[in-house]
Amino acid sequence: MTTRHLRLSGPVARSPFQSAPRHVVRAAAGTPETKTLADLIAEQEIDMSISGLRHLPEDTQYRILTGKVNPFEKKKVKKGGDAMWTEVEELAKLLRSGQVAWEDLDLDDVDVRMKWSGLFHRGKRTPGKFMQRLKVSQGVLSSEQLRGLGSIIAPYGDDGCADITTRANIQLRGITLDKADQSMETLRSIGLSSLMSGMDNIRNITGSPIAGIDPEELIDSRPLCQSLQDHITNYGKGNAELTNLPRKINVGISTSRDDFAHCHINDVGLKAVVHPDSGEVGFNVELGGYFSIKRNTMSIPGETYIRPDQVNDYVRSLMEVFRDLGERTDRQKARLMWLVEAVGVKEFRKLVAQRMGLDDLPGEVHVSYPDAFARRDVLGIHKQKQEGKYWVGACVPAGRMFARDFDDLAAVADKYGDGTVRVTVEQNVIIPNVDEADLEALQKEEVFQRFEIFPGNVTRGLVSCTGSQFCGFALAETKNTAMEVTRQLEQELEIPDLVRIHVTGCPNSCGQAQVGDIGLMGAPAKKDGKGVEGYRIFLGGEIGENPALATEFEKAVPASDLVPVLKGLLIEKFGATAK
Ligand code: HEM
Ligand code: SF4
Repeated sequence: MTTRHLRLSGPVARSPFQSAPRHVVRAAAGTPETKTLADLIAEQEIDMSISGLRHLPEDTQYRILTGKVNPFEKKKVKKGGDAMWTEVEELAKLLRSGQVAWEDLDLDDVDVRMKWSGLFHRGKRTPGKFMQRLKVSQGVLSSEQLRGLGSIIAPYGDDGCADITTRANIQLRGITLDKADQSMETLRSIGLSSLMSGMDNIRNITGSPIAGIDPEELIDSRPLCQSLQDHITNYGKGNAELTNLPRKINVGISTSRDDFAHCHINDVGLKAVVHPDSGEVGFNVELGGYFSIKRNTMSIPGETYIRPDQVNDYVRSLMEVFRDLGERTDRQKARLMWLVEAVGVKEFRKLVAQRMGLDDLPGEVHVSYPDAFARRDVLGIHKQKQEGKYWVGACVPAGRMFARDFDDLAAVADKYGDGTVRVTVEQNVIIPNVDEADLEALQKEEVFQRFEIFPGNVTRGLVSCTGSQFCGFALAETKNTAMEVTRQLEQELEIPDLVRIHVTGCPNSCGQAQVGDIGLMGAPAKKDGKGVEGYRIFLGGEIGENPALATEFEKAVPASDLVPVLKGLLIEKFGATAK
């Protein structure tokens, strides 16, 4: 650990969400009464050796202890999620030995705090089973890692599967708590970790899925993403200083005009540009993009430019500012955008710069391109920037994988590529560095009959969240419905171009309905006077250089009517014709 990791925090400004002056509480009668932080900690019987407060600056602790904070903050005050980084493995052993029974466990630990270890109890749909969310720096996995992941889910039989997620990440399914120490150990042995992947932590950092092989990229984002992930998470071992944020934070790094990382819907988007004066490649910062039930907003310009060697320091400092000053009362207002809006973009830039030991950072640089640029589809076979080498993009339907798929992908990556694959935010997979001479044989491999290299135009654009199979929030089944619907659409229609359908089980919109050409969002519907499962339909999402969010087109279409309704839409708006 570097000394930088040990530094608790820099200068602390007053939070715009702080109602009382610092360190003063008003007594009921209205006379000012000063209570010290120590008084409050003693009064509320907080055990600071385990409290999530202990890595926050005093002003933030004070604000939490004197404010009407949301229930999650209260749980964190009692015991920080980071306590689970060691407790989960101890608990697993105790459960196995019979010294502790499942019923003895603290429900706040099981259902909330374990998410800090990446373990999500899927209690509503599959009680006793956990989803384990990893961190996969911009989706790059070696064949050894793929085999290791397959080996974690294989023993769970039909319950064990995995998903490629819309943050180019992997979620493993079916894990039981008594074996969680073993999956943690397997992950460690292959250089992966699930710590800091859920709740109020940074999410998987996304970059370009074709980094290092893309003829159009301005800079290779792989070392930047990996170094940033290591810096924030203490090399996957957990970093208690950055684990009690007001809410999650999404960071994406875009290195070409495609904006593969979708900067517009990340809290922090770093967009590579060539500096017009120096000719160096650096990043314009975009801030605040996010979706939620109550608000969906694209990023705004962060009016900031940083150099590649400032990425770690900038993001860490920004996270510290967010941690210390962000809203902790209303969880709906706790995302970064609210803080940026409350202090103002330029002031926010200054606050971050000061944490970096600077007075300020330069404003964004202005670049204009003479030509239009269409975002590229990475599926199929494409020439790399390396002479004679190709990348092969294959479609993993709705991102769902089984143990055998991990092994098969590892085998083709070793046989034809460089022993690595990349998973993408569209929930697909790329095999890089294939020799031209091997392309024909590769296409005949059995795994690519399942994961098509040239799928139909709706299959190739399908993205789906987890839905009711595993997720307790879901108002609809998603992945299986989406696969069946796209199969029927491909069977019945000639669809001339890619149509991106994003399916999400509820308004939390993890499947990003607002990003799709067509978005489907689980919602109750009525058919023949009866309540049935249905979907709201969104239209018009744009990605790439000129992004736009899709807007609602239909309120509630019964699931059983999806095929005819989507058929009509594809014919009317996307040039499809009946076969
Ligand atoms: C309060 C709001 C939200 C809640 C309660 C929520 C809940 C969840 C849950 C329970 C899962 C795991 C489900 C499973 O696979 O079993 C999940 C996954 C995911 N969610 Fe959300 N979600 C929220 C908002 C969002 C938003 C706004 C986005 C971004 C558009 C998002 C993106 C994701 C992604 C990408 C995953 C997959 C895991 C990953 O790669 O990080 N979520 N979410
Ligand atoms: S969108 Fe809703 S149903 Fe889908 S994973 Fe997120 S919370 Fe679950």
